[in-house]
Amino acid sequence: MPDPAKIIIDTDPGQDDAIAILMALASPELEVMGITAVAGNVPLELTARNARIVCELAGRRDVPVFAGARQPLRRRLVTAEHVHGRTGLDGPVLPDPTMPLDPRPGVGWLIDTLRSEPRGSVTICALGPLTNLALALLKAPDIAARIGRIVLMGGAYFEVGNITPAAEFNIHVDPEAAQVVFRAGVPVTVLPLDATHKALVTGARNDAFRALGTPVGTAVAEMTDFFERFDLEKYGSDGAPLHDPCVIGWLLRPDLFSGRSINVEIETLSDLTRGMTVADWWRVTPRPANAFFVGDLDAAGFFDLLTERLARL
Ligand code: RIB
Ligand code: CA
Repeated sequence: MPDPAKIIIDTDPGQDDAIAILMALASPELEVMGITAVAGNVPLELTARNARIVCELAGRRDVPVFAGARQPLRRRLVTAEHVHGRTGLDGPVLPDPTMPLDPRPGVGWLIDTLRSEPRGSVTICALGPLTNLALALLKAPDIAARIGRIVLMGGAYFEVGNITPAAEFNIHVDPEAAQVVFRAGVPVTVLPLDATHKALVTGARNDAFRALGTPVGTAVAEMTDFFERFDLEKYGSDGAPLHDPCVIGWLLRPDLFSGRSINVEIETLSDLTRGMTVADWWRVTPRPANAFFVGDLDAAGFFDLLTERLARL
């Protein structure tokens, strides 16, 4: 990656999205060109609000935040207040944003930016349902050849689903959008539950956030405390899986992650398995590889990186 590497973050904050945004803003290797909000964990008004709250928490009112799609391409919006709370950012008490939303529509800004930046120079970090990205690709198919890479949190294979037995939330919310993205011919890296379920915020890791003794460290500790209660009850795991920051972690230190290039197709027809990522991990079909699918990570190394970056804010 060039240094700094230009990235666009497409997101539905969500506590884990918020921590991913903070990690990106704290990393000099990355230039966050803008943040496009999408409906997902909570409705669009809240994800667009939360993205600005996080930028202001990081002292980065300069980063433009745009509102994107308020509902999936074809389906009724499914949200996740049961995980993220009513606001989508429950846990810390953070002030309302004072920075304005950029008035340009997020999908239009995505298209214009990708058309004006040098071909292949922009990476898209997708942390929520893929509605914005799919709309941009459908409206302007020429941008597919201009996107450097899409690095997304979504899907699952050996870990199966977290919102249904078959599907991970981001893909489940808008399976048609995911199908557009995976079939667009853009280089894609997938951070699925197979990886993110190994990125658990243990008590010691949460303590390390709090020990930073900064407003960011304390807010992150309070976010993960809140986020954890759902996962603890559901998985009985030793801490909440920190899904979205794995996207930024892979960008910064791909050596901390491992996976393989395989074919990934999206189930869009069955009500029972809608949004399942049918990952040909064992390459048992002739379907061509269209994604680098991450299966494992060095969790200790990842949390050391995350904590070190948060300490810079
Ligand atoms: O399944 C986890 C994903 O769904 C994360 O991106 C989380 O923020 C929610 O959007
Ligand atoms: Ca998310």
